[in-house]
Amino acid sequence: MTARSRPPALQCSSRLSLPDNAVALWTLRDDLIEPMCSALAYTLSRDERARARTYRQERHRRRFIARRSVLRWLIGGYLSCKPESLRFSVGAFGKPILLWPRAAGFAFNLSHTEGLTLFAFAWACYLGVDVERRIDGMDINGLGSGIFSAIETARLDAAQPDPLATLLGIWTRKEALLKALGTGLSGDPTAWVTEDGPCPGNGRWRASRNGIPISGWTCLDLVLGQDIRGALAVSHEGVRVMVHRCQMTNELASLCH
Ligand SMILES: CC(C)(COP(=O)(O)OP(=O)(O)OC[C@H]1O[C@@H](n2cnc3c(N)ncnc32)[C@H](O)[C@@H]1OP(=O)(O)O)[C@@H](O)C(=O)NCCC(=O)NCCS
Repeated sequence: MTARSRPPALQCSSRLSLPDNAVALWTLRDDLIEPMCSALAYTLSRDERARARTYRQERHRRRFIARRSVLRWLIGGYLSCKPESLRFSVGAFGKPILLWPRAAGFAFNLSHTEGLTLFAFAWACYLGVDVERRIDGMDINGLGSGIFSAIETARLDAAQPDPLATLLGIWTRKEALLKALGTGLSGDPTAWVTEDGPCPGNGRWRASRNGIPISGWTCLDLVLGQDIRGALAVSHEGVRVMVHRCQMTNELASLCH
């Protein structure tokens, strides 16, 4: 990953800064779900509470509450407003959109897998992230069916000695790209091609559709833990990536019920 690590800084919800042409990535480990729920669940809207109740498993319900309230906390920090005052809507394919405050061009996206949630923030761009945990025994040939392009499928077929790593690499790239565009996997994901950049192995990749390259984007592979692969797609060239880790702070602890 070509990201630069910085000291964690989830200190105060009203003091986060986000330079132009930068992407801020935040990771939230599952062991912080309970404390984050306890500190921040009060920020959820009525709709979000209703959605939380639709999760059958308590574990999934708590994870939703934690990631949505941490999302609110972080956006509140970047836009200097109270987390509970934010209003969201969703796009045609489910992508959350910030309705209030109408911060021109504030972009965000998130992804979660067992053990980790990843949040991404940037100004004035299309922005998508995806994370997936490696689980041995995954259906290597079946998962990409109807999703991977012919080029991606050929790359997977030729992958040795670790086809599962290749599968997760292609999968996370494609989801990050399609989440940036807002369609997700609806439509025809096979029309999009993700490939290594000119210097394979440096974590940079590129995308094209029907043979036409998407130019002016930064597309990166992310390694977020021993078994967690991720990818970032952002419609800015040469962005600086800043990685932060969510952690319990005195301010958050003081909010715990
Ligand atoms: C977007 C999508 C690829 C995410 O798949 P996933 O791997 O299960 O989920 P991830 O953990 O990577 O991301 C989930 C987050 O992405 C965001 N998201 C949801 N839909 C999105 C979209 N279309 N584009 C970008 N981001 C989206 C949400 O913040 C969501 O978080 P939540 O679960 O807390 O609401 C998948 O849901 C999809 O293909 N959706 C489009 C299909 C469709 O039309 N659905 C109808 C919904 S109205």
